[in-house]
Amino acid sequence: MALPMDRAAALELLKTHTHTQSLIHHAISVEAAMRHFAEFYGEDVEYWGMVGLLHDLDYEEHPEEHCQYTPGYLREAGFDEDFIRAVLSHGYGLCTDVKPEKQMEKVIYTVDELTGFITAVALMRPSKSLLDLEVKSVKKKFKDKAFAAKVDRDLICGGAEMMGMELDQVMEHCILALRTINAELGFQPLAE
Ligand SMILES: [Fe+2]
Ligand SMILES: [Fe+2]
Repeated sequence: MALPMDRAAALELLKTHTHTQSLIHHAISVEAAMRHFAEFYGEDVEYWGMVGLLHDLDYEEHPEEHCQYTPGYLREAGFDEDFIRAVLSHGYGLCTDVKPEKQMEKVIYTVDELTGFITAVALMRPSKSLLDLEVKSVKKKFKDKAFAAKVDRDLICGGAEMMGMELDQVMEHCILALRTINAELGFQPLAE
């Protein structure tokens, strides 16, 4: 479970392949969620976080062939096959056939989609902040099929089931994780 580089180098690697700010925001969101869940489960925070940070490494350059170039990039950078497998499992049923098996893989599969949904809900709020966002607001928008219609609710529900955690709790954990990078994502602090 050794990583070939530290977090700063991994961010550099991400930025050599990704220049779009929304994609970098997505990568650090998934990273934050992965770090949070690693801590919750008593697992390796740096390792889980890096899987999150680098999971969409080839997306900007190869959106139509997403996940096909990432293994090569990661191998070249010194990552092992376990790491690559974990990264590819996020795209199970979408762009890979790598089924999530480890808990880490089940988590990335779920939070990849859910973190984006949560930030979309936060953007709609008058406060433009994650800091006062509650699970009930996320659940309400989750049921509103017209809101962020492209987000696959069934995938998220299936992911939570795989994780063995109630959807509400997965949402709560993701909100807590995203709050730690509220400013980095361009969200507002709470008004005095
Ligand atoms: Fe992806
Ligand atoms: Fe992603």
